[in-house]
Amino acid sequence: MQQAHLTLDPAFRIAPVHRRTFGTFVEHLGRCVYTGIHEPGHPTADEDGFRRDVLELTRELGVTTVRYPGGNFVSGYRWEDGIGPVEARPRRLDLAWHSTEPNHVGLDEFMRWTRKAGVEPMMAVNLGTRGVQEALDLLEYCNIASGTHWSDLRRANGTEEPHAIRMWCLGNEMDGPWQIGHKTAREYGRLAAATGRAMRMLDPGLELVACGSSGSSMPTFGTWEATVLEEAYDVVDYVSCHAYYEEHDGDLASFLASAADMDHFIDSVVATADSVRARLGAKKRIDISFDEWNVWYLSRFLNAEPPEDWPVAPPLLEDHYHLADAVTLGGLLICLLRHSDRVTAASLAQLVNVIAPIMTEPGGRAWRQTTFHPFALTAAHARGEVLRVEPVSPVHETAKYGEVPLLDAVATRDPESGATVLFAVNRSTGEPLELAVDTRALGPVRPDGAVTLSGPDVYARNSADDPDRVAPRPLPGVAADGGTLRAVLPPVSWNMIRLTDG
Ligand code: AHR
Repeated sequence: MQQAHLTLDPAFRIAPVHRRTFGTFVEHLGRCVYTGIHEPGHPTADEDGFRRDVLELTRELGVTTVRYPGGNFVSGYRWEDGIGPVEARPRRLDLAWHSTEPNHVGLDEFMRWTRKAGVEPMMAVNLGTRGVQEALDLLEYCNIASGTHWSDLRRANGTEEPHAIRMWCLGNEMDGPWQIGHKTAREYGRLAAATGRAMRMLDPGLELVACGSSGSSMPTFGTWEATVLEEAYDVVDYVSCHAYYEEHDGDLASFLASAADMDHFIDSVVATADSVRARLGAKKRIDISFDEWNVWYLSRFLNAEPPEDWPVAPPLLEDHYHLADAVTLGGLLICLLRHSDRVTAASLAQLVNVIAPIMTEPGGRAWRQTTFHPFALTAAHARGEVLRVEPVSPVHETAKYGEVPLLDAVATRDPESGATVLFAVNRSTGEPLELAVDTRALGPVRPDGAVTLSGPDVYARNSADDPDRVAPRPLPGVAADGGTLRAVLPPVSWNMIRLTDG
């Protein structure tokens, strides 16, 4: 059996575990909002029409922030359509997803939902078809207490206290030619800077995110970030990254190594941001909001015919994830944690039905996709500080990324509870991996639970009828002795091993 080893040492601290790493995303897209989070008449619907089953799963998932309302949708959205009496709200054509938006859910409903779900909102403004003034109006509606047109309207609409939204995205994917109001980097950078400056005048406490590239394969990747930050460096706190991965042509080995691409992506954006900082002589450091990431079978979506009519909440982007998707997603989360020194916020795209960990039937059941599990377990157990573990691992060859280590891992340690947690992926498509962990620097520790997400069929999926086909199971045979912890990681597996001091 192949062998790998790593060291757990509290001195190898990367950064704190940022709770915002465990954000997700709710877009007015497909069935994410309608029949996703909101479905009046559903047997579990509460007094506001929110599905309690989805709220419960959202809490169980451990979500911390939720980005809203898009995504591509936001680039054509008029936020005022979604406030006031529901029956008076206009129906609009949503060009981004070729759908009809009924505006039954808008800002105030979403904010009510965030309070019920116990999550922090992350609001996006439309910089596609709109600009500075509309962003200011929205901010005034949300964050000013009272005594102005928009704040008093909010109060009249039933929300006495300001929504107090702290984190704001200045548009979405403005580098993408598919985006309504697509712009050059210079055009967008100037607009983002002007919008951000004006927003800060209204509320200096905001945290602002400038759009980075829609992906590292965009032709303008790198120059886009440099130009946008040249214009907006002093105004923003974050630059965004977006990345989606899928298995192409049965190339499982490359797919499982998607985190290698994400590592490189993050390093490149950090290098660009830091070189702009040096050029400008700026004190402040720009961090990354990785506010869209996931497994997404995008090529299937691009090859599908768009709907001929303009349906309300059609089933769009409803990927049904298998075990290998979940292992890959767990690996991407390991990567985000490993970069906690610069990735201080992230959003799994998306939350319900649309490339999502939670699925629902209209009028019926809700269930956990395979990808739910690594996210929920990492969100629940990654606490305290992130530790670099420097795995020494056998490698294998992948078509896309060349030679990659079979083992990918990161750890967290919570000095308060004395818990150290190792998150580890075995990327081998066929062989188990024997892992030895040097724990001597932690002092005396004992294993305190180990789980694995693995199984004989890497393409097994969950469904409403078989919701627990893929779920975490105990990882057998984990033993600690004389400062070494030993475990055997199954092929194509995501694993979590907890240790407790003492
Ligand atoms: O998450 C789905 C879509 O992916 C978002 O609307 C867009 O921002 C990205 O291209």
